[in-house]
Amino acid sequence: MSALGTVFLQSSNFIDSAYIVAFMLLIYGMTGLTGPRTAVRGNKIAAVGMAIAVVATLLRQHEFSGSGTVWLILLGVVIGTVIGIPAALRVKMTAMPQMVAIFNGVGGGAVALIAWVEYRHGFGGGFPLRVEIFELFGAIVGSVSFWGSNIAFGKLQEILPGRPIKLPGQAGINFLLFAVTVVSAVVLAAGTHSQALFILGILVAAAVLGNMLVLPIGGADMPVVISLLNAFTGLSAAATGLALANPVMIVAGMIVGASGTILTNEMAKAMNRTVPSIVAGGFGGAVAAPAGGGGESGGTVRSTSAQDVAIQLAYARQVVIAPGYGMAVAQAQHAVRELERALEAKGVEVKYAIHPVAGRMPGHMNVLLAEADVPYDLLKEMDDINPEFSRTDVTLVIGANDVTNPAANTDPSSPIYGMPILEVDKSGAVVVLKRSMASGFAGIDNPLFYDPKTSMLFGDAKASVSELTSEVQAL
Ligand code: TAP
Repeated sequence: MSALGTVFLQSSNFIDSAYIVAFMLLIYGMTGLTGPRTAVRGNKIAAVGMAIAVVATLLRQHEFSGSGTVWLILLGVVIGTVIGIPAALRVKMTAMPQMVAIFNGVGGGAVALIAWVEYRHGFGGGFPLRVEIFELFGAIVGSVSFWGSNIAFGKLQEILPGRPIKLPGQAGINFLLFAVTVVSAVVLAAGTHSQALFILGILVAAAVLGNMLVLPIGGADMPVVISLLNAFTGLSAAATGLALANPVMIVAGMIVGASGTILTNEMAKAMNRTVPSIVAGGFGGAVAAPAGGGGESGGTVRSTSAQDVAIQLAYARQVVIAPGYGMAVAQAQHAVRELERALEAKGVEVKYAIHPVAGRMPGHMNVLLAEADVPYDLLKEMDDINPEFSRTDVTLVIGANDVTNPAANTDPSSPIYGMPILEVDKSGAVVVLKRSMASGFAGIDNPLFYDPKTSMLFGDAKASVSELTSEVQAL
């Protein structure tokens, strides 16, 4: 390329224009994420935007300490690609939350590392105080996010116990760690010869704080925590972007920070919790699940057969399907759609009850059911379907557990007490499709299974639903 061409590509006008195109693509791509049908296209558009942003950043060579640094960056890109692409291709849909947790955490970790590198090279000094404040804020929040996300990953992957782990004097320890980060940040901003030492102190104290903040959170509250950590990563990237005057980091960080904050609030509302009460911890504790028949509810479990359930369903006026994580594990969504069609052919009205945290990621059930071509108007949100259960003849609970647990309404000692649920127990009859009496994510017993109105159809959800469809069609 001619010298003139190189100068043009590295000119700030060209780079700024490339950034603007990148932002436009990122934001336009995100609008596609509002619906399952446009999500894949939206994701691809946003990915192109991000690629343009990366190339434009590499063209800002003059800001790096030497051209050798660019090769180091490219090496990082190659390593990230070699790890990221196979991981994304291989991950099971049901392991998505862990993947989101760990990938999100890596963003926070990168921000913390940037701060460490900057201070090792004598950051501060000539910079105005506000720049340092952003850099230090990014370092603290990024480190909390990275280490907190690791614990979230460990819990979701079941490497760590899912129940809340609380240390004696936890609040005091957290306060002390927070104080260490703030005091070290003040010392750094005030100017010290031991920059490397203090930035390390900040990063280590924030790392332990990140672990301590997530360890006491368990069970049903994990989705809120994952999205809170997401918001933290975004905010830390935006703050570091402000410190380094990097527009990509500012815009991308603000998008992640703002959307993560909105999602956190929405999910906390859906769980009937406040964000501070979740962070204070102790909710969602795991209780040993009953091994079989009886359970702590002391009732009797009625096991049923596909033939009996098919008769119940075929002669019903309205049937509601309440899907959960088990439907995702069994990949039963297409079979469920077939059953819905078979029932509709018999004149039965079928609706789907969608709980906001059913499954393992926001919108999990919507995505699976859209993939199976279930018409969107049949999907009813929790607040819309709950008043309908009393008019429903049969509710089919397919691989859902926690989101149908009536203890959330009736038992103040339950770890999920206060969480809004699908009130399936109000329908005329309930049939639960699952493999055993095992508990769900929150690790607690479900009195619904011992309700005299409930019968259990044991087995893999896909096999059970297919059998039900054949039986209904044979009637
Ligand atoms: P869970 O309470 O986790 O229950 C799922 C049930 O599916 C299990 O009891 C399991 O029982 C059954 N199951 C598993 N594989 C199956 C298969 N192949 N066939 C049939 N059944 C199968 O699910 P839920 O009711 O959807 O509630 C979601 C839970 O996850 C909540 O506690 C929520 O807070 C938490 N969570 C949600 C998210 C988001 S954002 N949605 C993220 C993280 C955590 P068997 O083993 O007996 O079959």
